[in-house]
Amino acid sequence: MLISVIGTGYVGLVSGVGLADFGHTVTCTDIDGEKIKSLQRGIIPIYEPGLSAYFDKNVREGRLTFSSSPPETLEKCDVIIIAVGTPSRDDGCCDLQALFAAVETIGSKGPDGKVVVIKSTVPVGTNRKVQNILRERYNLTETLVVSNPEFLREGKAVHDFFHPDKVVVGTDSPRAREVMEEMYRPLYLIDTPFVFCSFETAELVKYANNAFLATKITFINQVANLADAVGADVHTIAKAMGMDGRISPKFLHPGPGFGGSCFPKDVRALVQTGREHNLDMSLAREVLSANLAQSAFMATKLERLLGNLTGKTVAALGLAFKAETDDVRESPAIAVIEYLIERGVNVRAHDPQAIETARKILGERVTYHEDLYQAMEGADALIILTEWNTYRVLHVERVKDALRGNVILDTRNVLDPAAVQAAGLVYEGVGRSFKGSE
Ligand code: UDX
Repeated sequence: MLISVIGTGYVGLVSGVGLADFGHTVTCTDIDGEKIKSLQRGIIPIYEPGLSAYFDKNVREGRLTFSSSPPETLEKCDVIIIAVGTPSRDDGCCDLQALFAAVETIGSKGPDGKVVVIKSTVPVGTNRKVQNILRERYNLTETLVVSNPEFLREGKAVHDFFHPDKVVVGTDSPRAREVMEEMYRPLYLIDTPFVFCSFETAELVKYANNAFLATKITFINQVANLADAVGADVHTIAKAMGMDGRISPKFLHPGPGFGGSCFPKDVRALVQTGREHNLDMSLAREVLSANLAQSAFMATKLERLLGNLTGKTVAALGLAFKAETDDVRESPAIAVIEYLIERGVNVRAHDPQAIETARKILGERVTYHEDLYQAMEGADALIILTEWNTYRVLHVERVKDALRGNVILDTRNVLDPAAVQAAGLVYEGVGRSFKGSE
């Protein structure tokens, strides 16, 4: 099958590489010519574990190419995948400019009869609108649109592509369904559940899925704060809750709040879609404000531990929104650091991958350190903001030697409190202020 992918961000690139590995011939395009040039030279612009091996293999075997000229590529292919970004606008709606630009390219250049797969996360109603535009404005009456939302996690995107929990396909056309079955044929061999449904259902599955997970995280964050207040252990609570099959143990890890390119944006979009239909998505609305409060609360926790924050020096370990990525979009780590800067703290930051991406947001308002123990040098406190493995194995004695103060605020609960306390340091996590042994 000949496939053209428009957009080489996380979703587009991983899907392109994965589909090439399924044996299809894939050409990826992007309006960012520099990105395409770099991909043509074999340089992947994002940090995604495991991607480069599949990338190299499929380029070498001739199934994966990159082009900055979509029209030529579109003409020859059977399937066009749109995987362009749909960022949040200030009003919470999705910015669909890039998506409609791609639709225009397909409409004005492409011959009729293709299957256009929309992987970008789009508000309910968008797939139908695209289908109507292609039919009415461009007279492409045989072109079929399919909603195929993506559930890849950054950092685990390659694994998720090859082992999805589900594949959602929104279409009312039997031909489009057959083409999608053919495109994903290797997944049938591992018995992936396919969900065939309408455009609107597929679109809403994506928002409901992400908003539910964001709600789950927010719930455990609030329980963790309460556990701190009453002296209980949130990890035991989460473990016991997770033993109930109706709840499941996943996404019950407390922290500084959720971030990334999807959860905050998708929950906002769900609230906005409700508004457009005169429905108050009050729970989702509350999740957004509770999530903002959670990152602010981390700064308050530190203030309680240090007293006045003004003029204090804090080593911030972690800038990425989660481990195994260099992505800092809506990162709670950045949010906490912003609060600290506002309160007059000198921040010394470390991250194994995300310094350059964070620099674009924080500029020179913090200092950046390649070496994590150097970041702690002379600091009054240490705050762990991302759950990188390298922070799980911190050498407590070296930490103690490097710090001027003795406070560790572990917003990701990655350290062993007993080991930190045994070294004579003050430990605070999120929901772990229990007394005694559990
Ligand atoms: C998410 C969805 O998981 C994925 O299905 C969708 O396609 C895109 O959005 P991603 O943004 O890569 O993926 O990150 P994810 O691993 O889901 O984490 C999102 C945020 O929640 C991170 O900031 C993470 O640190 C936080 N989180 C996650 C928690 O605080 N606790 C948890 O238990 C799980």
